[in-house]
Amino acid sequence: MTRTPPSTRAVTKAVIPAAGLGTRFLPATKATPKEMLPIVDKPAIQYVVEEAAAAGLGDMLVITGRNKRPLEDHFDRNLELEQALLNKGDHERLAKAQESNGLATLHYVRQGDPRGLGHAVLCAAPHVGEEPFAVLLGDDLIDPRDPLLTRMVDVQQREGGSVVALMEVEPSQIHLYGCAAVHNTAHPDVVHVTDLVEKPDPADAPSNYAIIGRYVLDPAVFEALRETAPGRGGEIQLTDALQQLATSEEIGGPVHGVIFKGRRYDTGDRGDYLRAIVQLACEREDLGPQFRAWLGRYATETGLSALA
Ligand code: G1P
Repeated sequence: MTRTPPSTRAVTKAVIPAAGLGTRFLPATKATPKEMLPIVDKPAIQYVVEEAAAAGLGDMLVITGRNKRPLEDHFDRNLELEQALLNKGDHERLAKAQESNGLATLHYVRQGDPRGLGHAVLCAAPHVGEEPFAVLLGDDLIDPRDPLLTRMVDVQQREGGSVVALMEVEPSQIHLYGCAAVHNTAHPDVVHVTDLVEKPDPADAPSNYAIIGRYVLDPAVFEALRETAPGRGGEIQLTDALQQLATSEEIGGPVHGVIFKGRRYDTGDRGDYLRAIVQLACEREDLGPQFRAWLGRYATETGLSALA
């Protein structure tokens, strides 16, 4: 790779990979994109778009694939529905129907050949150009009360290079994530990443810091991705391209990690998805009080609370 100095430009764009087949949720995902499955009453993708918008990233590129048309429809106006609700005078539901319009300028590109997360991110290269940009993975929901992306953008603007979001996990869980070897910095929530490995065996993991699905990346990552051979699972891994940046700071500057200690909800498989829904429903102001009361009764009646 050629020496590429890090970009010093502002972060304005977000990339949202959404081309996966969602096979863990079949049959629900046979004709419906996984990103459209509701978390309580809002599709998973809307949480992610709202998070990027809240961090000031008004230009988003969604990487889609086959059967993803409902994603595009969701962020457009549905005039027929709006008119029907207006005619009924149902302003509360009208507001809900309009919630996802105008959150950002959304662009779409198709990943014609799904060859992994790294390959999906590479599909964003022509749109992103020479600016640092954010990547948000839809399987990780970050509670809006614990803003992470804003902090990552601040760190990227101060340090240059790339920034990944890290969270400490049980050592037995590290094989599910990208894992970072780190050194401390003067800031307690920021570490310097010296190495990265995708889904290591626990015995080989350099730490228990897991990459959760938020990144702010220097555009040099595209050059690294073009040279990244298929890795874990035969796929082009984003972690492998970042490993090249982390171990050779001449390309695209350093890699830092922001350590996240806030509320994160994993929606990647059915068990995690159910837990995320129950947690979020319990915390909702409108649904929470009644739902919590029912959950408490259910746990007592079924003897579940004795197991906790
Ligand atoms: C992807 C990344 C992994 C990261 C994870 C976060 O894996 O490859 O490095 O830790 O997202 O959710 P996936 O969960 O898509 O297999």
